[in-house]
Amino acid sequence: VGRVLIQEMERSRLPVNQLRLWATARSAGCRIPFRGRRLSVREIDPAEFIGCQLIFFSGTEGEKGASRLYARQAVDSGSVVIDNGSDFRLDPKVPLVIPEVNARDLKSHRGLIANPNCSTIQMVAALAPIHRRFGLRRVVVSTYQSVSGAGRSGLEALAYETANPKSSYAASPFAQRIAGNAIPDIGGLGEMEYTTEEWKMVREARKILHDPKLSIAATAVRVPVAVGHAEAIYFETRKKVSLGRLRTVLAGAPGIIYDRQGYRTPLEVAGRDGVFVSRLRPVPGSANSFLMWCLADNIRKGAATNAVQIAQLLYSQGMLPGSSP
Ligand SMILES: NC(=O)c1ccc[n+]([C@@H]2O[C@H](COP(=O)([O-])OP(=O)(O)OC[C@H]3O[C@@H](n4cnc5c(N)ncnc54)[C@H](OP(=O)(O)O)[C@@H]3O)[C@@H](O)[C@H]2O)c1
Repeated sequence: VGRVLIQEMERSRLPVNQLRLWATARSAGCRIPFRGRRLSVREIDPAEFIGCQLIFFSGTEGEKGASRLYARQAVDSGSVVIDNGSDFRLDPKVPLVIPEVNARDLKSHRGLIANPNCSTIQMVAALAPIHRRFGLRRVVVSTYQSVSGAGRSGLEALAYETANPKSSYAASPFAQRIAGNAIPDIGGLGEMEYTTEEWKMVREARKILHDPKLSIAATAVRVPVAVGHAEAIYFETRKKVSLGRLRTVLAGAPGIIYDRQGYRTPLEVAGRDGVFVSRLRPVPGSANSFLMWCLADNIRKGAATNAVQIAQLLYSQGMLPGSSP
């Protein structure tokens, strides 16, 4: 995610005077190209946060992760922080933002802004325009999530196990061999037999859509695909709606690339921005009930692109410390 963030910053119109890159000691000294220069990665040191207007976090989650260890310090140093992990997403004081859906929530930020989970972003981007017009009564989603969703080690596990069909990758982040498999366990089983990834989709969607009682359930499955998450989404609307009207709404929705015919696959959307929706169809015998197929590059729109879009909004609205667009 960090590397794609840098590429997205490079492509963006953000006027970056200086870019500082941090990781753990492991990556210190790596050089990464940015706008014609090769910048050195340094071991993270909070003293270097001073003077930064904006800091993106995309490190490991949890107690020993970069966000928990350093994000508050970064805010106290005067920066605005956009965090890619799950540590602050459900904090009521932290806006959880998909620019096409709830950009207005940014106005209440207190220095820390959270980027939603990758599978949440594409699902909510596709459902929000429908929810806004017709109200959602129920959502049931099944995901087919790529290994890059688990970071660099996920990609390494798939490559190793594909080349070595009889052994498993020792440092794999997955519960079982991923090559040739489909694992219905992302993040571990927990409350009510749902996994943490499934709860992220439920709770984050409710927060972003400002609908705390939305009926929504997920089954999240890891599949042996390098990049690109796919989702089969079932939804029912409260108001009466025709297939034709839904098609029109999706075709005009910001950030959505709607295909009326055919479908997309992860290989086709990897490396591209946007959320791709196809195979919209009614459920036989049920009024106002539909299915759709939804894809996105989990590292781009599912993480880095969304984060840079938030940064662009903050900049264009004069919401970065000491900046005027
Ligand atoms: N991959 C996705 O599709 C996706 C989508 C949405 C959100 N996210 C979230 O984005 C974050 C990054 O994901 P990723 O897939 O890019 O993971 P990754 O490939 O494992 O990369 C994590 C990076 O963070 C650095 N890091 C980890 N802990 C650190 C610490 N304590 N201090 C400084 N740097 C630290 C690592 O440094 P080293 O290089 O030195 O090891 C590495 O460069 C995670 O919170 C993840 O949940 C990922």
